[in-house]
Amino acid sequence: MRSPILDYLDEIIEKTAEVTGGAPADYIPELAAADPDRVAIAMCTVSGTVYAVGDAEDLFTIQSMSKPFAYGLAIEQRGLDEVLEHVGVEPSGDAFNELSLDPENGRPLNPMINAGAITTHSLMCTTDPVDRLLTLIGAMVERPVEVDEKVAASEQSEASRNLGLAYLLDAQGVLASPPQDAVSGYIRQCSTSVTVRDLALMAATLANGGVQPNTGERVLGRRTTRQVLSVMASCGMYDAAGDWFTAVGIPAKSGVAGGIIGVLPGQVGLAVFSPRLDAHGNSARGVKMMELLSEDMDLHLM
Ligand code: DON
Repeated sequence: MRSPILDYLDEIIEKTAEVTGGAPADYIPELAAADPDRVAIAMCTVSGTVYAVGDAEDLFTIQSMSKPFAYGLAIEQRGLDEVLEHVGVEPSGDAFNELSLDPENGRPLNPMINAGAITTHSLMCTTDPVDRLLTLIGAMVERPVEVDEKVAASEQSEASRNLGLAYLLDAQGVLASPPQDAVSGYIRQCSTSVTVRDLALMAATLANGGVQPNTGERVLGRRTTRQVLSVMASCGMYDAAGDWFTAVGIPAKSGVAGGIIGVLPGQVGLAVFSPRLDAHGNSARGVKMMELLSEDMDLHLM
């Protein structure tokens, strides 16, 4: 028999059908070319049960939802103190692609904005940072994951802004690798191809304190996971972080391809997908779906 939870998730898709505002990201040409009407929701409990509806098997690029996991890997690799010397943990209140440096020490304000994420990428590890991240994500989603080379090439062809940020970061002395390498690796990181089902498993791994619910493998340390979730709570939704936390009330991260993950620690990982974005670069229908899920299931942490 079909689970009533799946019927409920289908209802959320129906109820948000009127949210048609916003537009897919167009500064990465390959994203602008994707079908904007796709929609999906997945939920994974900390015991590993996945419920997924809509276009749940469709692949799309992880984009900025890779940032919390890259941050986790950098912390595991270098230790938190060293990472904090390079990237702060304060919300910027600015758009995700602003430089947003701490005036006192020149560090990017947090690892969720592009400047902080390019820096984090340079800290992940000295050799094959993207492969390391793909291995981490693969362990969370229980299948090998790959870079969507078409999307990566498309973003690489329009990378002036991220390259500009990286050169300025290099001038501040915060990058741990040459600016071009940091940006090309960061773009490949963002081009990892996932489904909402994958993302729900990744969110559930964070909800489960860094242990993959089905395999029992510890993929991130408990303290690292706490740090990652804390930064998602304060900075994950960029300059909409306050609206998000008051309305939905759980740590989250969005991506410019239209995905959002949300994590209720100790309980559940959520993922939604709809490519049309609002003015903050967050999925417009995705935010609405998450608001309804939070309200109905009483997910808000407060
Ligand atoms: O660097 C960029 O602009 C993209 N690869 C990622 C930005 C992103 O996902 C912003 N989030 N909503």
